[in-house]
Amino acid sequence: MRIGTVSVAHPITLAPMEEHTNPPFRLMMKQHGASLVCGERIDACDVAKKDRRAMRLLSTSPGERPSVGQISGKDPHEMADAAKIVEAQGFSIVDLNFECPIRRLVGRGEGGALMSDPAAIARIVDAVVKAVTIPVTLKIRTGPDGEHETAPEVARLAESVGASAVDVHARSVAQSYVGGPDWTVVARVKQAISIPVLGSGGVREAVDAIRFLKETGADGVAIGRGCLGNPWIFQQARSLVLGGAGIAPPSAAERARVLLNLVEGEFDYYGNHLALKRLPRTSCYFAKFLGDFAAFRESIQRVRNFQDFRRIVREHFVAANPQIVSNNSKS
Ligand SMILES: Cc1cc2nc3c(=O)[nH]c(=O)nc-3n(C[C@H](O)[C@H](O)[C@H](O)COP(=O)(O)O)c2cc1C
Repeated sequence: MRIGTVSVAHPITLAPMEEHTNPPFRLMMKQHGASLVCGERIDACDVAKKDRRAMRLLSTSPGERPSVGQISGKDPHEMADAAKIVEAQGFSIVDLNFECPIRRLVGRGEGGALMSDPAAIARIVDAVVKAVTIPVTLKIRTGPDGEHETAPEVARLAESVGASAVDVHARSVAQSYVGGPDWTVVARVKQAISIPVLGSGGVREAVDAIRFLKETGADGVAIGRGCLGNPWIFQQARSLVLGGAGIAPPSAAERARVLLNLVEGEFDYYGNHLALKRLPRTSCYFAKFLGDFAAFRESIQRVRNFQDFRRIVREHFVAANPQIVSNNSKS
């Protein structure tokens, strides 16, 4: 698939997820077979004024390319200014979020609120396309609610002002993250436009990704919650889509190695204090399969640094394989 000037190796991509898709997470998903990775939504007003937190969220490294930086906002000039900064940070593509259902954002008339106003979306896309040289894509929902399917119209207008791809989260804004996605809307968006269409919603296993591509005719699928604690879903889905054999699930030792790599990356990226706060969430997704999961979760409350964490992972994941350590681990 080609998104504007950017070539994407295969259709299996990583969906943006706030509080998850940070640079170490994205790099890991890339290394496990995601063709394209996207960072979490950042307010354009914060990016435009180069707020410190926003700029840290907007960091990227060559290893994750092609990579996507995502912004949200409702003012075309501010979105254009923010998009220029996303480009300058080294992202390959800038993605505009018209899907976020959180009340704070919708209340300001941003994110998902704009799915009720396709013309306003077109004005924003138009301004951003004129401001940057990298491809501009948009992430949308099926519509504001189940009764109003605006996605095909939004996609058509966006294409007419120069968008390079459309990514549909197959739920309405009103649905937020609850309830079944409606993949038929993705199929209708695909019928409506000629630029690439990607989609997400409800992909939990590799076979779901293949089914999504077949049933919708989309050019790509973005995996969200299905990859939390399971980066292997990307190589499994990639193998299936390229006609290869199924790939067996990872061993406990492999899960431990990958978890240690990710957490070590988070300690480097966030520093000790913040990485410790994130530790239960980051690690429990990987530990769900453990027979003594409750004891593992209990133990991480006492972790004070990465070395403590590595010891606990050894005890719980790989007691029988004490040689297992992170590839980059400092001892
Ligand atoms: C915790 C969480 C955070 C998310 N944050 C973003 C975001 O920052 N930007 C965005 O476009 N979509 C975001 N999404 C939506 C996902 O990209 C994706 O479209 C959705 O999760 C797909 O559904 P699935 O999780 O059922 O596969 C988020 C989803 C979750 C679960």
